[in-house]
Amino acid sequence: MIEIRDNLYVLNTNNTTYAFRVMETGHLEHLYYGSKINIADPDSLVEKHKFQPGNSIAYDSEHAEFTLEDMCLEMSGYGKGDIREPFVEVVAADGSTTTDFVFESAEKLAGKEALETLPSSYDNAKEVETLRIELKDKNNGYTLRLNYYVFADTDVISRDAKFINTSDEEVKLRRLMSAQLDLNKAGLVVSSFHGGWVKEMQKYDTTVNIGKFVNSSYTGSSSNRSNPFIMVSDANTSAEYGDCYGFNLVYSGNHYEAVEVNAYDKTRIVTGINPQGFEFTIAPGESFEAPEAIMTYSHDGHDGMSRHMHDFVKEHIVRGEWKDKERPLLLNSWEASYFNISESSLVKLAKMGKDVGVELFVMDDGWFGERHDDKRALGDWTPNKKKLPGGVDGLCRKINKLGLDFGIWIEPEMVNVDSDLYRAHPEWSIEIPGKHHSEGRNQRILDFANPEVVDYITESMVKVLGSANIAYVKWDMNRIFSDYYSQYLPKDRQGELSHRYIMGVYKLAKNLTEKFPHILFEGCASGGNRFDLGALCYFPQIWGSDNTDAISRLSIQNGYSYGYPLNTVTAHVSSCPNHQTLRSTPLATRFAVASFGVLGYETNLCDLSKDELKEIKAQIELYKKYRKTWQFGDFYRVEYGNHVMWNVVSKDKKQAIGMLVQKEVMPNEMYACFRAKGLDPDMKYHFTNIKTEYNVKLFGDLINTAAPFHVKPGSLMQNLIAKFVKMPGEVEDYVCYGSAIMNEGVRLHQSFVGTGYDGDVRFFPDYSGRLYFMEAVED
Ligand code: GLA
Repeated sequence: MIEIRDNLYVLNTNNTTYAFRVMETGHLEHLYYGSKINIADPDSLVEKHKFQPGNSIAYDSEHAEFTLEDMCLEMSGYGKGDIREPFVEVVAADGSTTTDFVFESAEKLAGKEALETLPSSYDNAKEVETLRIELKDKNNGYTLRLNYYVFADTDVISRDAKFINTSDEEVKLRRLMSAQLDLNKAGLVVSSFHGGWVKEMQKYDTTVNIGKFVNSSYTGSSSNRSNPFIMVSDANTSAEYGDCYGFNLVYSGNHYEAVEVNAYDKTRIVTGINPQGFEFTIAPGESFEAPEAIMTYSHDGHDGMSRHMHDFVKEHIVRGEWKDKERPLLLNSWEASYFNISESSLVKLAKMGKDVGVELFVMDDGWFGERHDDKRALGDWTPNKKKLPGGVDGLCRKINKLGLDFGIWIEPEMVNVDSDLYRAHPEWSIEIPGKHHSEGRNQRILDFANPEVVDYITESMVKVLGSANIAYVKWDMNRIFSDYYSQYLPKDRQGELSHRYIMGVYKLAKNLTEKFPHILFEGCASGGNRFDLGALCYFPQIWGSDNTDAISRLSIQNGYSYGYPLNTVTAHVSSCPNHQTLRSTPLATRFAVASFGVLGYETNLCDLSKDELKEIKAQIELYKKYRKTWQFGDFYRVEYGNHVMWNVVSKDKKQAIGMLVQKEVMPNEMYACFRAKGLDPDMKYHFTNIKTEYNVKLFGDLINTAAPFHVKPGSLMQNLIAKFVKMPGEVEDYVCYGSAIMNEGVRLHQSFVGTGYDGDVRFFPDYSGRLYFMEAVED
């Protein structure tokens, strides 16, 4: 996989090649990243430089033809003529900032070592090779270690970097990126994913012809404002065809991705820790590790890139007992009761859950200290005895007795001023003493840069999680940073706070996941404010968004799907009108969308009608039947517009499930065709939908076109008729080859257009959704 030939380094995965060389000057020239190629004469890939352009810096008199600004490089220092985004920025003891890193040594290693201070990917018994390059700074003698990891199986090459202060003096590290990729072209399209609370992962495409596009976060978390995952593709790349690169960072803190095009039409992509506000003091002999960056390339468009990322996350990021285990179907108490919980109300809700078939009951916020609203008690992790007279254990036993597993909500990184913890340790909170503090959700962030705080919280969490038979934990984090200041760090080391904070979070996550390996941990940060590969190293699944509206979820989940597999994104069916949008959508649509994630329910089942409970019971049965495919199959985006179509295919391709959701009904547009991707073209599939019936009330006063007497909408008579008369739904039932479903699609029944309705017509008003099932059949 890794080939070293003189000064040439070639990294091959199953379908891609990455190549660079050591130049005459000792710098690393990037030569190629793309579809797999064979390299005979590397000179054919080397850019030919003879005379440097005017008004630029010649590297040195011996190599006057080289101006570093006009080279594709594997990493860039600062101050030697390359005026683009640097890879590394260091302030030397004399105040100078120029560095000049040149080749020192290269080594090929079998396997992959874990990072020491941060989570990172792992080989998972697959063949992985490491190329370790060491560079030496000609000015100050620092060492920079670049690691390249080659994951042949998933077509991923990942990189990380380590700065080692091999000089005699203390330095300030202002930036250390994780990866840099210089491409000899311009006009590439950056797809990045932005939003905010309840609107995560909205996809934006930006063409970078010149100048710089930055995707970064300064929230203290990877953030819902800008996810660290980005795609970079050619202008004409489509879903299925063309060049597409994907980048992600195994990091949950402030991140930075820049795509810059310079005067020579070269594109530089860097990704790493956000340099804003970042400054680390490194003493002689000390080092600093940058997080691992993930890169993949596909010639098969965005879909191909997504498949690599999905496989990589499933195989080399997610770990532990739950990695390949079907995830339980849960019922969460939050939208059912918010803070208003008690042992008896929770048991009642759980019982309803058991009746419809859920497997795990989760007690959300409100169970500890004086937590009656979001203004107090974070930090006081002891059960509120009025709400839970038997403590967590008492409730857990009752839930277990119902035949359900039990899960709990925690928010370990936070404290309210109105809490015993804050009263005892105001110095443990991130705030500037004596200055006004701007709060978020009435709470403050604990200073996880302080090891004493991490130890204390570890102890309180171990107490909680060890106090009962807890099977699941929802680990929340509900505010972003403000008033950055650690009362623990010295005043000249405040630039270390955000990175040290996140290392403290990882320490706690490691402590708890190692101590409780059976517990399924779900990450959450007001929904998707910390949805990233660092979090996924500890939490196999993450709450995708506090927005449970099925229509909003279409773009949110579609956004996640570019970089993250379905089984990392949790999704719940909730009540209507929806609590975030007040929109009402059919229960079938809510289920269809949520089942394309790890399914759960979050609604007060005690308030639902018999019909709704019956429908939910049937949904849960269906989900369990197809769960393996949904959670571990290959996911495909088929269409995203007014109609959204997705499908998922089992690894053996014998089973597939498709989803079609319509946002807005269009008059006199009655035809729709369901197309799938990823099926076996030569396999025959039995294509079916869910047989269903509709309440006549959904047809309003159209009932009068069929009723022998006049029925007033909303009248007792209408209710009575609705009790006995159901309108039939369409039945789709075909046998077709995979090739036919993928190329032409299945032409569905005509939808209602105002001229007649019977069981051969698709009832398809606004927000309608359908699931289609494809099962392989023998000839
Ligand atoms: C956050 C989470 C919600 C819920 C509440 C509880 O907003 O995202 O799902 O757990 O906190 O306070």
